[in-house]
Amino acid sequence: MNPDDFVAALRSAAPYVHAHNDRVFVVAFGGESALRPDFERFIYDLALLHSLGVKLVLVHGVRPQIEAQLAARQLAPQFAGDLRITDAATMECVKAAIGTLRMDIEARLSTGLASTPMGGARLKVAGGNWVTARPVGVRHGVDHLLTGEVRRIDIQSIGEVLAQGRIALLSPIGYSPTGEIFNLRAGDVAQAVATGLKADKLVFMLNSDPDRWQLADDTGDAGQLPLGEAERLLASEGIRASLSGEDRALLDAALAAGRGGVERVHLIGSDPNGALLRELYTRDGCGLMFYADQNYEAVHEASIEDVGGILALIKPLEDAGVLVPRSREQLELEISLFDVMVRDGTVIACSALIPFPESAMAEFSCVAVHPDYRREGRAEALLKRAEESARQMGVRRLFALTTHTPHWFIEHGFVPGTLDDLPPQKQRLYNFQRKSMVLIKPL
Ligand SMILES: CC(C)(COP(=O)(O)OP(=O)(O)OC[C@H]1O[C@@H](n2cnc3c(N)ncnc32)[C@H](O)[C@@H]1OP(=O)(O)O)[C@@H](O)C(=O)NCCC(=O)NCCS
Repeated sequence: MNPDDFVAALRSAAPYVHAHNDRVFVVAFGGESALRPDFERFIYDLALLHSLGVKLVLVHGVRPQIEAQLAARQLAPQFAGDLRITDAATMECVKAAIGTLRMDIEARLSTGLASTPMGGARLKVAGGNWVTARPVGVRHGVDHLLTGEVRRIDIQSIGEVLAQGRIALLSPIGYSPTGEIFNLRAGDVAQAVATGLKADKLVFMLNSDPDRWQLADDTGDAGQLPLGEAERLLASEGIRASLSGEDRALLDAALAAGRGGVERVHLIGSDPNGALLRELYTRDGCGLMFYADQNYEAVHEASIEDVGGILALIKPLEDAGVLVPRSREQLELEISLFDVMVRDGTVIACSALIPFPESAMAEFSCVAVHPDYRREGRAEALLKRAEESARQMGVRRLFALTTHTPHWFIEHGFVPGTLDDLPPQKQRLYNFQRKSMVLIKPL
């Protein structure tokens, strides 16, 4: 690799290294990962995440390994829909498959040879009886026997393991207070542990390619969908039907985790080329991400009823010279360009997105948050929504003009520009007395 490329790559990853440091990530991967030639490299990438300060919880699946055990004992797999029925003989296969795969994973995480990327890593992996399960029971007249569902997770113990700098490794198995063992779905375990830990991210490594799902059509290059939007899309029968049963179950787990308070859920395909690292440490990522952001959810398009509220919010800022004054009439005319956040009938935040289609640009303007509601990410949520709308309109660059707030914009990806960067109509209207700074954000 050319040294300049290396240095540039390392530098571009730095903001993500800082952002992910000390964060809790739950990474779930199917048993299929272990069958791929790049499995070792995938485990090394996980070790690298740990070395970069991420608190890691790993949840592995074991489906193909169970299939192999069943085949070796000449037992037929039994399913009811997408869910396996686990009788006593199948449970023996589950135990053998999990035991073997777990040891394989632990062995790879213990590698320390200087000739591998694990040189000097000295990782400590922990496991335990953290998952309490209960039987799925009889559904549609079918007894699922030893197939179970998660009842409780010992979050405190997992938290302690993470606090000691160890990696927690969970298998898709749980124990009941009656002393039985239940076969669980790895996706459900991952969802329950991520929700319980209030993990910063839940990452599902999939066998299919989420980038090619119909669901991903609306996400733009960044591959990001607000949770509410993902839920709406997934409620559509057409989209559900286009997915495999396994992917559907994982998506349901992903949505449940989002609803349960996990702010970012990533779905990453089986691309062997370091997909996990690319998704987490590069700007564009390479998978699909659902984000649950309460602020984001609270943003909606303004209507004529919001005019009074917006005026009340921006008037003091206009008087202070922070915002350019707008008359009520002008606001009424432009109201469809505004987004607002309303709480208890009061407009607490607003912004406008003014398109300049000839220049493939749009202005992010009139952003204001009520002083009592600042510093909780509301302006950022407004910007995120504006960026998404702008992308959908085919806008390539966003711009803002500001006198008082350049650093907020710069901290949110804008770079200083010049008058010449603005669309020609805007250049003609530029107020030379106000001397606003021009800030540009490529989308
Ligand atoms: C700028 C503004 C919209 C931010 O709203 P917000 O919901 O508090 O924003 P967020 O929560 O997304 O971001 C908060 C961060 O921005 C920072 N910030 C706020 N105003 C800033 C400014 N003028 N310069 C630099 N940073 C600023 C805050 O300090 C905070 O960061 P910190 O917690 O690390 O210190 C809000 O302060 C506001 O309404 N200001 C007056 C109107 C204004 O200046 N609008 C822009 C004119 S074009």
